[in-house]
Amino acid sequence: MTYLSVEEAIKKGKGIVKLRGWVHRERGSNQFKFIVLRDNTNILQCVFKKEKYNNKEWEDIDKLLVESSVELEGKIHEDKRAPTGYEVQVEKFKVIQRSEDFPLQKDQSVEFLADNRHLWLRSRKMTSMLKIRSTVFRAIHDYFRNLGYYEYHSPIFQAVQCEGGSTLFDVAYFKQKGVFLAQTWQLYAEPAIFALEKIYTISPAFRAEKSKTSRHLTELWMAEMEAAWMEFDDLLDNGEGLLKYIMKEVVTKNKEELKILERDVKKLEPTIKKPFTRMTYDQALDLLKKKCGMTIEWGKDLRTIEEDKLSALYDTPIIVTRYPKKVKAFYMKEDGKMNKIVLGVDFIAPEGYGEIIGGSERESNLKEIERRLKEEGENPEQYKFYLDTRRYGSVPHSGFGMGVERVIAWICGLDNIKDAIAFPRTTTRFKP
Ligand code: 4AD
Ligand code: MG
Repeated sequence: MTYLSVEEAIKKGKGIVKLRGWVHRERGSNQFKFIVLRDNTNILQCVFKKEKYNNKEWEDIDKLLVESSVELEGKIHEDKRAPTGYEVQVEKFKVIQRSEDFPLQKDQSVEFLADNRHLWLRSRKMTSMLKIRSTVFRAIHDYFRNLGYYEYHSPIFQAVQCEGGSTLFDVAYFKQKGVFLAQTWQLYAEPAIFALEKIYTISPAFRAEKSKTSRHLTELWMAEMEAAWMEFDDLLDNGEGLLKYIMKEVVTKNKEELKILERDVKKLEPTIKKPFTRMTYDQALDLLKKKCGMTIEWGKDLRTIEEDKLSALYDTPIIVTRYPKKVKAFYMKEDGKMNKIVLGVDFIAPEGYGEIIGGSERESNLKEIERRLKEEGENPEQYKFYLDTRRYGSVPHSGFGMGVERVIAWICGLDNIKDAIAFPRTTTRFKP
């Protein structure tokens, strides 16, 4: 007889089943021992009756601790009182490894859980997040591949900055200076569109963010795309399409996980069904003044507090476009005649989850890029490989990056971005 998963056993609902997994909960009396068995699919109550076992066997059963790994066989039947509505009367069992006293049982401090992250992964909430995370990654790949994009890979060791020097991680690269961990794939993606035209990736990105917030990691995963011939409005459509596709996949495939995370799916559905509101930076300032009583001086970047106020007015992400040039990166295209404005975009998630996508149409004027690099204190020589993209057959093109953990934190309704990744890295946390 082959092993069934817990979920398969529950679906079968009657007859003999053979299972394996871990003891999620245990309690005993002098007649019975109850365990809740856990595997990657679900949990299931299993009961041992003392009268069926000899003294030696009963001792083994009675001493079973949480997280012991076991195999067992028995009859499954419906039982409304059991946590998942079914129960197994155990007839045969084998302990694979008798667990030591598991440290994570009663209320533990956040720090203690973080120090024991490797064990905390087994919790039902963490497992549910990890399953949703897996769906999100799959959805990103499917979305871009369905649109004919190639998966393309850029280096992690880079000798350039793209998103400002203040968040660069220096690397001790043998004896060399001026080597950093990738903030983004972008400067190595733009050269590749001349070969592949439409490309995407999901890759780790690194930001030495000194700010300790619930939205910042130092190591994050970024989904990025870049496309030749793509202009600004198509870029916005592509980002909206991606978020809708991810959300639809999770809401259809992870109902159970969203329930375990106590996430109200009604808050996620508008993202699938409704078009996202689009507004320019100027319109955003207007709205902030009229609806939120906040006056922002033109030219100032939108801060977290303003993004939160704006996004609270909507139940889908909002798309804010056409920012002042001076608050955005050197590679963003000027907006036609209005050279104070660039074709940059931020997608801001609902419910205060912040900026989930940042992107732009790319500047094609070589002189303008060089000028802005110098303004940022950079030596254009270092960027020769990048600037060559504007020398040999330059075409209009656009791209964006999506912070995968921010999207997961929003979908799962997490209080902190740290819980959107297995082993978070922040200013103060780099272990285990
Ligand atoms: O807006 P950003 O900085 O854009 C870029 O890096 C572009 N070069 C992307 C591109 O056009 N190919 O970063 C993109 C997204 C942000 O919108 C945010 O969601 C996420 O990456 N992000 C972070 N997420 C968690 N922790 C951090 N420290 C993050 N920094 C950026
Ligand atoms: Mg940004």
